[in-house]
Amino acid sequence: MNGGTRTNVLETDVLIVGGGVIGASIAYELAEAGVQTLLIDKDNLGSQSTRAGAGMLGAQVEMMNPGPMFELGVASRALFSNLREKLLEISGLDMELQTPGIFRVAVDEEDRQELLARQIWQREAGQRAEWYEDEDLRNILGDNIVGTTYGALYIPDDHQVRNNALLLALVASAKALGAKFLEHTAMTSFLTENGAVVGVQTQDGVIRANRVVLATGAWTGLLGQGLGLDIPVFPVKGQSFLLDSYAPPTPYTIFTHGCYILPKRNGQVYVGATEEASGFDTRPNLGSLAKLSTQAVHLMPSLASLPFAEPIAGLRPGSRDGLPVLGDVPGVPGLYLATGHFRNGVLLSAITGKVMRELLTGTETSVDLKPFALMR
Ligand code: GLY
Repeated sequence: MNGGTRTNVLETDVLIVGGGVIGASIAYELAEAGVQTLLIDKDNLGSQSTRAGAGMLGAQVEMMNPGPMFELGVASRALFSNLREKLLEISGLDMELQTPGIFRVAVDEEDRQELLARQIWQREAGQRAEWYEDEDLRNILGDNIVGTTYGALYIPDDHQVRNNALLLALVASAKALGAKFLEHTAMTSFLTENGAVVGVQTQDGVIRANRVVLATGAWTGLLGQGLGLDIPVFPVKGQSFLLDSYAPPTPYTIFTHGCYILPKRNGQVYVGATEEASGFDTRPNLGSLAKLSTQAVHLMPSLASLPFAEPIAGLRPGSRDGLPVLGDVPGVPGLYLATGHFRNGVLLSAITGKVMRELLTGTETSVDLKPFALMR
């Protein structure tokens, strides 16, 4: 076991490492179940991909194929309406759920054919998806909004929230239910006894825990190396930007290949996002933002006149097969993973909190976690 410098050693039943929406959702669920929970984050809560992400609940728009990821996304999306009510009741804070739906605009004939095929399999899976040809699309979105298209798939049930509002509502609710949070507390190593994880060492001392959950996004692969584990999670940079607007040009989210536009309730317009392999560098750069803004203005020319508010960059937690990693770690008692959510951390936050609560309270999980196991 590693030693610590904290004289007053902290102890908890569950320690969550990582204070983005994934960690916060687990903390909220565990606190609601009456489990003693402490969450630590190396920076401010939500300062990594939660700060950078768009807040899309794109259970259909983000999924190219049927399978476990699609099913997980749909199951999670279904939780948000009820979750919003509960968090509002407990904390008085609103996650700013916006429900007009998402148009996935085709960019060329190949894209159109993929979307038409997607409409069929998603409908067969019981989801709503409606096809709009160009003229119908212009009737809905207005003539000056969308540049040339090959039609669009309208997904009425894909929604959005404001990430920071969701995070605040989760954290405030978890705190109200007894969970504790420590910011600026970086984990430096694991505490182990006889091969089991029994806590972590931080720069301020030791935290002992019966169970440790890593919800550390793009950093999880690095942390796992401390135990000799190969956790297949790595950073995938996303760059985006915010525009100021008193009245966004449309209430709908417009999504196309390589670019999407989300009107936010505060009037701002979020334009995302690139997908780049760039290590842990979180600085935005001009070339990527120039390319993205060209795409956005082509799709929605009226954006060109909006004032630029801020560039954003963050690190998605990519995984080798695109699926999150949820569950225990074979051979390492006491350690659990909730990571690798890639482009869908906000969407999957609700179901991740729910299944991790089930797992950590010894309840049968409502979702089969085999496709998301570390050793799959
Ligand atoms: N979910 C959108 C993105 O990751 O860019």
